[in-house]
Amino acid sequence: MFKIVEARNAGLNIRQFVIEAPRIARKQRPGQFVILRVKENGERIPLTIKSADPAAGTITIVVQGIGKTTSLLNCLEAGDAILDIVGPLGHPSEIEKYGTAAILAGSVGTAMALPTARALKEADNHVIFIEGARNREMVIFEDEVRAASHEAYMMTDDGSYGEQGLVTKKLEELLAAGQKVDFVLAVGPVPMMRAVARMTAPLGIKTMVSLNSIMVDGTGMCGGCRVLLGNESKFACVDGPEFDAAKVNFEVLMQRNAMYREQECQSMKAFNEHREEELAQLRASVESREKEAAALRARLAAQGETHHV
Ligand code: FAD
Ligand code: NAD
Ligand code: FES
Repeated sequence: MFKIVEARNAGLNIRQFVIEAPRIARKQRPGQFVILRVKENGERIPLTIKSADPAAGTITIVVQGIGKTTSLLNCLEAGDAILDIVGPLGHPSEIEKYGTAAILAGSVGTAMALPTARALKEADNHVIFIEGARNREMVIFEDEVRAASHEAYMMTDDGSYGEQGLVTKKLEELLAAGQKVDFVLAVGPVPMMRAVARMTAPLGIKTMVSLNSIMVDGTGMCGGCRVLLGNESKFACVDGPEFDAAKVNFEVLMQRNAMYREQECQSMKAFNEHREEELAQLRASVESREKEAAALRARLAAQGETHHV
């Protein structure tokens, strides 16, 4: 079990959790993610590690509630626990001294891009962070974005905060004003990453995108996260999640991400009808597992053994 030590709202429908996971905290690098399961028989979902504190043995994740599992997870509070967490998974972001690096992040993608932005700044790049959100309530982690960059721009679709327009509008303006950009990382909804790729490819700017394909095992075995780069198949979990934007087939990614839409909608509808029962069941099962673990620890201690349970 992985105990939640802190839970707080970060934006509209977006929650941040600090979770005890000492081994993952020691090993994680920017760009890596975990796969977690909230409960027995629950689905396994990938989430990026926003930060880690190896001394405290904790990792921080940020979750946008969009379907059943993320919505259930977002009901949890400090003191609750998550059944299992596997990680760190995936290749870390490639950190080099590119020169000027522009980070374009949409919605929860801001949390996902922050560790890479910090690492690029530490590697002596000039970091420009462009955060996009639908409206003011969805602008997240502005202070951290400003600290992780040399220049930060907040864009909202409706103009309720920062400047009005999409993240691509700001990049276009900067490029038109003669800003030299040597590297771009785009993390956000698929249409946004595709729009960034279409803008930077003709200019020859090296651009990476963090692909949000559906994942199951996270080990390259199930094929669930298959993505197409030109004619080549890759697995986002082990070959990514970051890929060269110019090669990604975004249409195939969209088709594959929509494959289970009907089941996802049914599952969300059922969850909304039985939200309280689901949460109560989850908490009861955590309590009974904790009791089992405590009993096992007591038995082992009585036998003079000191295994970690
Ligand atoms: P579902 O019922 O599965 O889906 C609801 C809707 O989301 C549907 O419209 C569906 O088409 C779409 N969808 C389904 N699966 C995914 C998916 N894997 N990614 C995006 N959309 C999907 N989300 C965060 O909030 N924070 C993160 O830090 C984060 N990091 C990620 C890192 C990686 C490497 C990947 C692959 C995804 C990441 N995601 C992150 C997305 C997150 O995994 C999905 O939002 C989650 O799996 C949806 O599960 P659900 O049961 O709540 O929704
Ligand atoms: P959204 O539609 O509100 O978009 C967020 C921001 O991205 C916008 O404010 C805008 O600046 C930019 N954007 C969106 N569409 C664009 C386009 N066509 N061209 C240029 N810029 C564009 O995002 P949302 O509804 O919060 O998230 C939608 C989905 O994206 C969710 O399923 C979420 O899981 C997924 N997502 C995936 C990742 C990832 O892993 N790469 C990151 C964030 C969100
Ligand atoms: Fe199964 Fe990537 S999640 S192969």
